[in-house]
Amino acid sequence: MKLMKTVLVGLSLAGLMSAAAVQATPEEDQAAFQKFFTDKFKDSIRDKDPRNFVHGSLALSEDAFAQWQEIDGDFPPYEDGMDHGKTLWETPFANGKSFKDCFKEELNMIRASFPRYDEEKDTILTLEGEINACREANGEKPFAWKKGDIADVSAYLAHEGRGQKIDVRIPNEKAQAWYEKGKAFFYTKRGQLNMACADCHIAYSGNYIRAELLSPAYGQVSHFPVFRAKWDELGTLHRRYAGCNEQVRAKSFAPQSDEYKALEYFHTYMSNGLEWNGPAFRK
Ligand code: HEC
Repeated sequence: MKLMKTVLVGLSLAGLMSAAAVQATPEEDQAAFQKFFTDKFKDSIRDKDPRNFVHGSLALSEDAFAQWQEIDGDFPPYEDGMDHGKTLWETPFANGKSFKDCFKEELNMIRASFPRYDEEKDTILTLEGEINACREANGEKPFAWKKGDIADVSAYLAHEGRGQKIDVRIPNEKAQAWYEKGKAFFYTKRGQLNMACADCHIAYSGNYIRAELLSPAYGQVSHFPVFRAKWDELGTLHRRYAGCNEQVRAKSFAPQSDEYKALEYFHTYMSNGLEWNGPAFRK
């Protein structure tokens, strides 16, 4: 075990890929993970600036970035959804209350305050989960998950929260159990192709799979929800998780399942220190 730990701290790919089997603290995991990516892409990341990991695979390709800037900068395709999200946010529920009454944080801090561990319920609270929890608490029907209204409200809050730091906390052992569950999910091989998230987004990150450049896992969550050309609409992070599970012909899990909440908790914690920059456009 001691040797394994040395390997991990030594930051070899093998060390990082076997991280799931290693007893490291979340802080050690995070440091090793972030150093692995900043080292691996030190010459190829846009402007040689690790803050650009928030742009996913676009940060690794000048051409793709330039094309994206044209679309995202001038007439971002998510704008209509985002505006609709603002309207939903501001429209009172039938009981006269509104979303604002459920969220204690300032508008620009809401995005950055999720995901977080909730001690009372011993669960992970996510932004989308709390949007629907707020509706239900006020006698409204929850939005459908994955896309539509929920992604629109999420996009509005992401936009208001741009520039805040990703700062996920793991306050105690029970929270750490959620983190470990998410970590195990990330490193577990599954599906007919027998591949883990870590295979594509750590080991093969920066390589092409068919026509697609595989994004580094570092920074992958920062820009959600995402408007994908393929979807022709906004979709949530859990929708993307399901898509990536299905790509390897594995079973996907329901949005807001414990599996995806744990994964989101681990995945976001690994990007602590980067900036929230959603929503974004993707192919
Ligand atoms: C067979 C390879 C493969 C596996 C395994 C895989 N993905 Fe992906 N993933 C892709 C491809 C291809 C894309 C689109 C290109 C890109 O942005 O990486 C993608 C995109 C994503 C994105 C969106 C990135 C962005 O900037 O919009 C996220 C988030 C993501 N994957 C998470 C995961 C997670 C979590 C897992 C494990 C449940 C996983 N992926 C497993 C291939 C894979």
